[in-house]
Amino acid sequence: MGESKIWRASAPSNIALIKYMGKIDNLGDNRPSNSSLSYTLDHLQSYVELKLTRETTDSWQPLERTNLKYFEDALSPSFNVPELSEHSKTRFLKHLQFLKDGFQFQENFEVRSANGFPADCGLASSASSFAALTVCANLALSELSERKSYTQTELSEMSRHGSGSSCRSLFFPWSIWDFDGARPIELGFKKLIHQVAVVDSSKKKVSSSEAHKRVTTSPLFEGRKERAENRLKQLTAALRSQNWSESYQLMWSEFWDMQSLFETAKPHFGYLSAESLQVLRWLQENTWEKTGDGPLITMDAGPNIHLLYRENQRELAEKVQREFVPMVNILSSYDFESYRKQNT
Ligand code: DP6
Repeated sequence: MGESKIWRASAPSNIALIKYMGKIDNLGDNRPSNSSLSYTLDHLQSYVELKLTRETTDSWQPLERTNLKYFEDALSPSFNVPELSEHSKTRFLKHLQFLKDGFQFQENFEVRSANGFPADCGLASSASSFAALTVCANLALSELSERKSYTQTELSEMSRHGSGSSCRSLFFPWSIWDFDGARPIELGFKKLIHQVAVVDSSKKKVSSSEAHKRVTTSPLFEGRKERAENRLKQLTAALRSQNWSESYQLMWSEFWDMQSLFETAKPHFGYLSAESLQVLRWLQENTWEKTGDGPLITMDAGPNIHLLYRENQRELAEKVQREFVPMVNILSSYDFESYRKQNT
């Protein structure tokens, strides 16, 4: 039964410009209350290996760094094995079971996984790891069972069951996820520089899965769908016409809209720290307010700040990185890319 064969796949993380926040119901299949739009973070990948086992259950183990060489194009200056809690392990393996069911496959696997970005950078790895597991299982199961492999769109839908935002990681460089599912979308900018200002790397008190439930108790949740759909229309139009400052304005309103849902939920919660606000203020004063140009800014369910720059803003990105470090650690996509170039 080809027992020693190992299947491998990787998948990228993504950053939402219009946020998925709130689910239609709690049936467990992660149907969003509103459409979302994301940029795929190709430099931040998760890696998954699958190997058949004679054990009676699936199991998870950390992927060794030395095994990274088997993944095509997998060089990263950073590598970490997630410390999965029992709850996260169960969730990950439950998704594998769901994928096996799709192929009517009964045997069990040893799963190994790791991330090509630091554990303590406060970046969510659920989007990339669930997408990588879905792609890897498709490779293995289409070979081991009668069923042929699924299409990219079908895989995205399957990945959504594991973690909603992972369905957008299957497409590149832009993904839109609406009522019909996720798919790639052509927008004005094909390649952007991404930075994350790591303000706080400790584990968040309210998980994003919990946040999806709590926001529905906010009085502002009524109307959220309309606001998000409107903004999505405006933002796709702005990006298509390369209207950078309009895109910035819309993204700024969007992440504050989500933060307001958090802060007006019952009970309320939030992720912004004093340092997050300091960084946001600094960015405004030193970029947009000073010169009328700057990075696109967004935040997720955490205190860290994500920045997107046009390729011709590289100098500005480097300046921002210089000015903050070591006060705030900044990870930049070009550092990952030049590491890759130097080592291949
Ligand atoms: C704030 O995809 O992590 O990052 O479907 O419960 O796994 P589950 O939630 P998850 O939610 C991500 C929320 C967000 C916004 C976004 O990525 O759109």
